[in-house]
Order: sequence, then C-alpha cells, then structure tokens
Amino acid sequence: MEHLREKFASMQGAMNLEQNERIKELQKAGHKIYHLGFGQSPFPVPDFAQEALQSHADKAEYLPVKGLQKTRQRICEYHARIDGHTHFTPDDVIIGPGSKDLIFLLMNALKGDVYLAAPTWTTYKPQSVIAGLDCHLLKTQRENGWKLTGDQIKRECIDCKPGSVLIFCNPDNPTGATYSEKELGSLADAIRNTNMLVLCDEIYARLKYDGEHRSLVTYLPEKCILSTGISKWASCGGWRMGYHMYPQNLRPILKAVQAIASNSFTCCSAPVQYAAISLLQFGDNAVEYVRHCRRVLSNVGGYCAKTLSAAGVQVVHPNAGYYIFPDFEPFRARFKVKGITTGEQMCDAILKEAKVCLLAGGPAFLDETSRFTVRLCFINFDGAQALKESGKFSLNDPLPTDFVAKCCKDTVDAIEAIVTWLKSLPDD
Ligand SMILES: Cc1ncc(COP(=O)(O)O)c(C=O)c1O
Repeated sequence: MEHLREKFASMQGAMNLEQNERIKELQKAGHKIYHLGFGQSPFPVPDFAQEALQSHADKAEYLPVKGLQKTRQRICEYHARIDGHTHFTPDDVIIGPGSKDLIFLLMNALKGDVYLAAPTWTTYKPQSVIAGLDCHLLKTQRENGWKLTGDQIKRECIDCKPGSVLIFCNPDNPTGATYSEKELGSLADAIRNTNMLVLCDEIYARLKYDGEHRSLVTYLPEKCILSTGISKWASCGGWRMGYHMYPQNLRPILKAVQAIASNSFTCCSAPVQYAAISLLQFGDNAVEYVRHCRRVLSNVGGYCAKTLSAAGVQVVHPNAGYYIFPDFEPFRARFKVKGITTGEQMCDAILKEAKVCLLAGGPAFLDETSRFTVRLCFINFDGAQALKESGKFSLNDPLPTDFVAKCCKDTVDAIEAIVTWLKSLPDD
C-alpha cells in the first residue's frame, strides 16, 4: 500500500486482543467456548471505588500532563508504605492512560536497545518495533522457573549500548514467575555494571499470593523505573489508568516522556484519577478485597497447575497473577501423528476439538513456534460469585477443598476438557 510505512503495512494488532475479540464474537453467536486466552481480572471493581468514580463524573477539565497532584502524592505514599520505596516524590510520577502507553512513550524517548526475557508479554516487542528500537531476547527456561539470572545478564547484556532498557516483568506475565530477594540481589549486581536501565513492570505485584512481593527497585533504585497501575489488583483494566515512577537521577527521561505525553494523550481521564485516590489509600477495604482475590486466584491457579501436571503436562506452579505457562512437550510424538508440529496448530486443535481457547507461547509471547507452550489464563469464572463465597470464610483459614469445583466450574470444565483431549490423542 503506497500510503503506509513499510513496517506497518504487514503489522498485526496485539494477538491477545484480536483473539479475544474473535472468541467473544463466537461466544455471542452461541458457540460454547472455554476462554482461557485472555488475561483480565475476573473480579468486579471494589464497591467503594465504583462509588468514588460516580461521584467524580463531573470532573471534566483537562488535568496536568503528569497527573493530578493529589493522586501522585497518594501513589508515593502507597508505594512507600507497601513496598518500602521511600525515594519517590510526586514530581517523579507520571500517570497515563494505562501503564502500557507509558512503556511505549519511554521506548520512544530512549536511544539504545530493548532487552526482553523470552517468553514475555505480547506487547513489549511490537512497541519497540514501532518505536524503532532493536530488540534482544534473553531466553529463560522452565527448569529455572522461567526466570532471568544475574549470570545471564553478565553474559548477554554486558556490552549493551547506553540508553538501553531491560524490561523486567515481576510477577511475570505469561509465566507467573516471581523472584526471591537473593535472585533480585544477584540481578541488581549484574545490571549495575551495564549501561542499561530497567523498566520494572510490577503490574501484578499486589496479586502475589503470599502478599510478599519483592521488587528489583529496592535493590537498584537508581536504574529502575517502576511501572504499575490499578488494572490488575483493583480490576480496573478498562478504566485505563497506570503510572510510572522515575528515580530523580533519571529526571531528563521523565521530562522527555512528559513532553511526548503532552503532545499525544494530554492527560489520563480526570474522573478516574480522582477515583483512584480512594483505591491508592489502600485502606482496610482495599486490603481485604485484594486478599480475597489472591486467595481465590491461588486456589484456581493451583488447581489448574496440579491437574495438568498430573495429566503429564509440564507446568511451573504459579505464585501470583492469573497465568500459567504449561508446556505440552511430552505429547510431541502423539501430536505428530495428528500432523501437529507447532504450538499454534496445537491451540487450533484444542479450540476446535476441546472448545478451549489458549494462546500459543510462540510467536505471541516470543517463545519458539515449534514449542508446545501456551499461556493459560485461569479467569473464566464468575469473579463476583467467587468473591462472595470467599467472603464467607475467614482470611486466616484456607478455602474449603471443594471451593474451586463449586465456584469456578467453568475453569474446572475447561481443564478437564484439555485433559480429555490429551487422553484422546492417537498413540505414537
Ligand atoms: C505484563 C503487563 N504489563 C502491563 C500491562 C498493561 O496494563 P495497563 O496498561 O492496563 O496499565 C499488562 C496488561 O495486560 C500486562 O499484562
């Protein structure tokens, strides 16, 4: 097409979003499909936040590009209290229409390369391509819980150009991986000796099941830009508000991002920024809400990992969030008999024959296309009902053993459908 720049002529939309729209259409048309392909919170927005949003519907003025002062102040207090990040001031914060957009703006401002774990979240690579930055993949292994290591950084990033950035997603999407203090310390030591900065994507931090999120920012404050928001823990993805926090020594980068923001999105939605103040207060109501969400997710995630693992699939048990990244490699020979040789073909067959939608590890998540990994989002259950049921049991106790079977039936049915499909595979 003569009007288009070459790199956009064949560019596709985000695979997860496109697949989600396709599946929703099929479901609307009456097809029964278990949708484990899209990752968004299954839970309702907390009542008090909904009320706050309603009461600020009259806030219609443009706000400062970096965001409302009071919200930025609250963001700093929240991260100081919960994560121990006391070095950020409101001037170090920029609020945007989702953290995703702010990551993109950062990439547009930087002049080096982008370093990504592989597998990793669908969006980082396309964003770096649009921004015109080169990408380097740092492969992680299931045997190591899909984690980056300090030794790997020393080996593969030591010569990186100035202005390069490592995107470090912790807790991770799609693998559910989280890092210990020791692992973060070793990463920080290795990164300190390179030219690169780190974009710490901690959007799933509050969904660490044990409530004990550990942040790389603590170990490497001068190089880490914190990226997070309210989309995941407060179930507000569609509200479109996220934020970045820059250490003071990186103020010139923040200023550049602010300039790009002022010439692109102008500011994040005003009513949402006002309503977020109540969420970021992180009072007893928010803490209780998030603890119930975590307890439900940990039970459902644990069930999925355990059941698939018992069926012969290789799965790392999740510690946070809504995802697992199972590897169906043990079934390779039996897939071959059916003519299945890629992860995408396997997902097509699972959708067609088991009516379960999954997104293949490659290419969407930068895993190799010949591998049989998938991202499985265990969120196709009625989150409002599950929260209500969870509310009947003290947070000091575990949920009853039949909780998942009773309250997350669609997820259980989906996993059973996958297991039945695996059993039906021809012998090799
Ligand atoms: C790893 C990761 N980072 C960032 C985002 C973007 O979140 P938002 O733009 O809603 O703040 C998502 C959303 O799916 C995500 O999974």
